[in-house]
Amino acid sequence: MVARKTDSGIALRHERVDEDLLGAGEVTIKVHFTSANYKDGLAITPGGGVVRDYPIIPGIDITGEVFASESADFAPGDLVVAHGYDIGVAHNGGFAEYARVPADWVVKLDGLTPREAAALGTAGFTAAMSVQALLDHGVTASDGPVLVTGATGGVGTVAVDILAGLGFEVIASTGKLGATELLTTLGANSIIGRLPAEGEKVRPLGKAQWAAAVDSVGGASLAYILSTIKYGGAAAISGLTGGPELPTTVMPFILRGIALFGIDSAHFPIAARRELWARLAKDLKPRHLSLLENYAPITEAEAVLHSILEGTHSGRTVLGVAGEF
Ligand SMILES: NC(=O)c1ccc[n+]([C@@H]2O[C@H](COP(=O)([O-])OP(=O)(O)OC[C@H]3O[C@@H](n4cnc5c(N)ncnc54)[C@H](OP(=O)(O)O)[C@@H]3O)[C@@H](O)[C@H]2O)c1
Repeated sequence: MVARKTDSGIALRHERVDEDLLGAGEVTIKVHFTSANYKDGLAITPGGGVVRDYPIIPGIDITGEVFASESADFAPGDLVVAHGYDIGVAHNGGFAEYARVPADWVVKLDGLTPREAAALGTAGFTAAMSVQALLDHGVTASDGPVLVTGATGGVGTVAVDILAGLGFEVIASTGKLGATELLTTLGANSIIGRLPAEGEKVRPLGKAQWAAAVDSVGGASLAYILSTIKYGGAAAISGLTGGPELPTTVMPFILRGIALFGIDSAHFPIAARRELWARLAKDLKPRHLSLLENYAPITEAEAVLHSILEGTHSGRTVLGVAGEF
C-alpha cells in the first residue's frame, strides 16, 4: 500500500512496486502482519508532520519471517518484529508483502507469534516502556492506584492490561462511554471520564489521587494529572492525542517531588528494545491480547486509520498482509 500525494491530499493505494523501492538494509522480511497506529494515521494526513517525502509505504510495525539476510544474526525463517526508527516514515514500512531493514532494527521473536507481536506493535511496546519506567522509579501496587488515560487506545488498552496483570489497581480514563465492559475485562478497577472533568479547573496542586499515571493524551489532561499525582509519584508520557501543549506549573514537582518520564519508542536503543520484547513474552505479557485485538486485511488500512484519527477506534487493529493480495 503506497501513500502518494495527490491534488486533494494523500492517497493510500495498492500498487505493485519494484523490489528496489524497499530501501537499504541487511534483512528482508516477508511481512505477515502490520498494525494500525496513530502515527500511521498521521502518515496519510496532509501536514501530519511525520513523513517528509512521499511516496512512501507506511506501516511503523513489521512482523513476519526473515526471507533473506546478509546479517549473521538472522537466518531465513526467523520470526521477527521491527518497528520505530525510520520505518514507515522515512524508510518503507510494513504495509507491504516484503520489507527490508537494517539488522540493528530487528528483534527476534521468542515466545510471541508474529500476530501477537503485531497486536502489541508500537503502541503496546510504548505501554510496556511506560510501565517499565514506573516500575524502575519504584512504584509498587501498595502505593495506590495507577491512572491510564486514553484508556481505550492502543497504548491505553495494553497499559491497562499489563498493569492489572502486575497487580496494580488501575483507574481507566476514557471518553468512550460504551467501553466499560472492555476495560473492566482487561482489568481496570474503575472507569472514569476524560480529565479534567467538564467544568473542573486545573489547579497548580489538586487533590492527590494516583500513585502514578500512564498518559498518551498530553495537553490539559496531562496538566491535570500532574497536579493530582501523590507525593513521590510519577507519570510516563508518550502521546499528544489531546494536544502537544503542557500548561502546567513547577508546583507538583517541587512540592510533591513527582517525576515525569518521557517515553520514546522510535529511537529506543536496540539492546534494551530486545530485552523489553523478551519481557513482553513473559512477565509483562498482557493477559487479554486477543480481546483488545481487532483484525482487518491490509486493504482496509485506510478506513482503520481514519477511525483512529477520528478517535472512534478501540484497542489495537492487526492488519493482515501475507496472502491478502
Ligand atoms: N512516544 C512514542 O514512542 C509513542 C508510541 C506510540 C504512540 N504514541 C502516541 O501516543 C498517542 C496514542 O497512540 P495510540 O496508538 O494509543 O492511539 P489511539 O489508539 O488512537 O489511542 C488514543 C486514545 O486517546 C484518546 N483520545 C483521542 N482523542 C482525544 C482527545 N481529543 N482528547 C483526549 N483523549 C483523546 C482516545 O481514548 P479514549 O476514547 O479512551 O479517551 C483514543 O483511543 C498518540 O499521540 C501517538 O502518536 C507515541
